[in-house]
Amino acid sequence: MDYEEKITAPTVKTGEDMADMSLRPHTLSDYIGQKMVTDNLKIFIEAAKLRNEPLDHVLFYGPPGLGKTTLAGIIASELGVDIRITSGPAIERSGDLAAILTNLNDNDVLFIDEIHRLHRSVEEVLYSAMEDYALDIIIGKGPSARSIRLDLAKFTLIGATTRAGSLSAPLRDRFGVISKFELYNPDELMQIIRRSTNILGVEADEESLRAMAMRSRGTPRVANRILKRVRDFSQVKGNGKITPELAQMAFDAMGVDDLGLENLDREILRMIIERFNGGPVGIDTIAAALGEERVTIEDAYEPYLIQAGLLHRTQKGRMASDLAYKHLGLLDLREEQMTLE
Ligand code: ADE
Repeated sequence: MDYEEKITAPTVKTGEDMADMSLRPHTLSDYIGQKMVTDNLKIFIEAAKLRNEPLDHVLFYGPPGLGKTTLAGIIASELGVDIRITSGPAIERSGDLAAILTNLNDNDVLFIDEIHRLHRSVEEVLYSAMEDYALDIIIGKGPSARSIRLDLAKFTLIGATTRAGSLSAPLRDRFGVISKFELYNPDELMQIIRRSTNILGVEADEESLRAMAMRSRGTPRVANRILKRVRDFSQVKGNGKITPELAQMAFDAMGVDDLGLENLDREILRMIIERFNGGPVGIDTIAAALGEERVTIEDAYEPYLIQAGLLHRTQKGRMASDLAYKHLGLLDLREEQMTLE
């Protein structure tokens, strides 16, 4: 199955964006989890408002689907300013960025998703924009070329990335606030799903809510997607109310197991166990064997496998844990491999 098509793929599916939007919180008080991040931001937002200054530039990093874009929207709305949303790959030339920057008003928020994928030439324009609220434009070519400086509105850049490590040091250093997003725990996911059932007007008991939360891989975007599919099953196969049985029917149909793993997750673990004796094995080898991009595995699959205690990252490579053997029903193989070692 295509990565984008997977129910638990943390990327936004086309056509689902709008439905997803309606479930997104609009205020900080509605935003569940990421307490460290939001507690700090509350202070910085209030301070910026008191001084009538723009909020310092903010960098969000962490796995996809954890609400980075949502929180950027909330920050703009708490500041009472407009937000302009774009992404690294969408800004092809420095002129595109200049056009966006010159259209901002004082204190506005510019959100750049996947900021690690900005072209180097575009990134360089950001440096003076972030530091001096100015744009240096070169006019002409060769010996007659000259540079003019254009003043910009005092804006706030919010950048989001799945990998802070792949940001260049000059860019990273220009952010005043750098916040790491963590995977959500089942209680937080339950609260998020409960809130979504209220918005969607669907009934669900506690057991069903917990069952969905446990399969959401620590990710609100996955939680809401699962909820919508379970709702479909409840309407078609039941009387509209979500029950544990109907939820289980939906999980089975989606190929989502008790830990929220799907085929590719299980394939990753199974391959490490069966072909590499449980590891350690290098990430490039895993990616090549599965025909997937290394970054997809690192950013979208590994964080949850690691948090769930199924995969360990070591100096020598990735290793399947005993829990992974148990989860896949391969404990016998573990015994065999141990005897051979
Ligand atoms: N939807 C997505 N992320 C959320 C969050 N952190 N809190 C509430 N609803 C959400």
